[in-house]
Amino acid sequence: MTTPPDNGLCIAVLGLGFGQKFVPIYLSHPAVSRVVLVEPDDARRAEVAARYGVTQGYRGIDEALLDDQIDAVHILAPVPFHAEYAIRVLEAGKHCACAVPAATTREDLERLIETERRTGMRYMMMETSVYGREFRWADALYREGALGDVTFYRGVHIQNLDGFPSYWQGFPPMHYLTHALSPALALLGTSVESVTAHGSGHLDEATRAAGGFDNPFPTEVGAFRLRNSDVIADVQMSFFRTAREYLEGFWLYGSRMGLEWPTEQEGPMLVHTMSGPVEGGRGNRTEVSEVEPPDKLDQLTEELHTFVHDTVIQLPGMAEPVSVGAGHGGSHPYLVDEFVTAITEGRRSRIDSVRAAEWTLPGMCAHESAMSDGARIDVPRLC
Ligand SMILES: NC(=O)c1ccc[n+]([C@@H]2O[C@H](COP(=O)([O-])OP(=O)(O)OC[C@H]3O[C@@H](n4cnc5c(N)ncnc54)[C@H](O)[C@@H]3O)[C@@H](O)[C@H]2O)c1
Repeated sequence: MTTPPDNGLCIAVLGLGFGQKFVPIYLSHPAVSRVVLVEPDDARRAEVAARYGVTQGYRGIDEALLDDQIDAVHILAPVPFHAEYAIRVLEAGKHCACAVPAATTREDLERLIETERRTGMRYMMMETSVYGREFRWADALYREGALGDVTFYRGVHIQNLDGFPSYWQGFPPMHYLTHALSPALALLGTSVESVTAHGSGHLDEATRAAGGFDNPFPTEVGAFRLRNSDVIADVQMSFFRTAREYLEGFWLYGSRMGLEWPTEQEGPMLVHTMSGPVEGGRGNRTEVSEVEPPDKLDQLTEELHTFVHDTVIQLPGMAEPVSVGAGHGGSHPYLVDEFVTAITEGRRSRIDSVRAAEWTLPGMCAHESAMSDGARIDVPRLC
């Protein structure tokens, strides 16, 4: 094992399921000198440590927070730990990145915002959907005026959670809406004013009981009214009893161009370009084409470029080459880069606790609306 330079950041990756993917990305970042693994499953921790030639680290957060060498913790433990752990990390004087959702209660979001502000530590919610190549491309088209005025947005997240750990069973789908809603809020630079939502279908008693949630719905759909905007964001969240392959994406319609997510999740986007009314006829001329969103790597630290697609790497200290899957539109290295750069530049991250709350709280309000037969719920501003 090689000894890393000691002048960079020391990052702890906590939770080594999905978290495994981030270990080589942090190790490759020039501002990071050391990665520490935090995982209660000893065999899993040992395997990941051996794979990447890093020290095994710790079994849990208590030991990690006592380690003065650790500058920041990236939380990828199960959802029920997110808010509590993030607050503990910040209180311990360490920076914190956290997988979505930031929290599942309004009170925890308020505590998170207060803690980030008071401690001066940096927080980032690691929302993959707004760093994927599809969103970055759509955002560039919008900013250069190619889409025209945005008139409608649809976000969808369909994922069958059968067989997932018990903390997922019966999970209220709207409590996890950030992947489906955030692209609209990031693109338009706004937040949600109010929501009207409904539940669809019914969950069987066993699933309802397993996770201990008060949620009868396998699917929830919501219409989100946005602040200072006439666009409605229409979101479908389906986690159970929905016979459909995994899909997590957005459909975005402007007055000149519409972008539609690929039916099979990966692949080219469908682009509809409207060139104006047909002279003497009805309707508009619309051309339809398929476009692979470009990677546009100029805004990503060079050492991380390889991670936007599936890759094979062998870093110093690694015994042999390792395959690293990309996924989520190549967003993982962008998330790492933004979190690390926010720390080194001494600024708040682009998805700080206030923005994380703006992207998370509407889901809680949507579930409340669905449980109240579609009552309109105003979404408060937390700041
Ligand atoms: N696109 C995305 O942003 C995306 C994708 C996948 C997962 N996630 C999120 O990432 C998180 C992890 O997902 P996952 O699929 O790996 O979950 P998981 O439940 O499969 O695995 C979590 C890992 O954390 C470990 N763990 C459990 N309790 C822990 C604790 N108290 N402290 C430290 N480690 C603990 C487990 O042993 C396991 O290795 C979840 O919150 C999930 O919502 C986000």
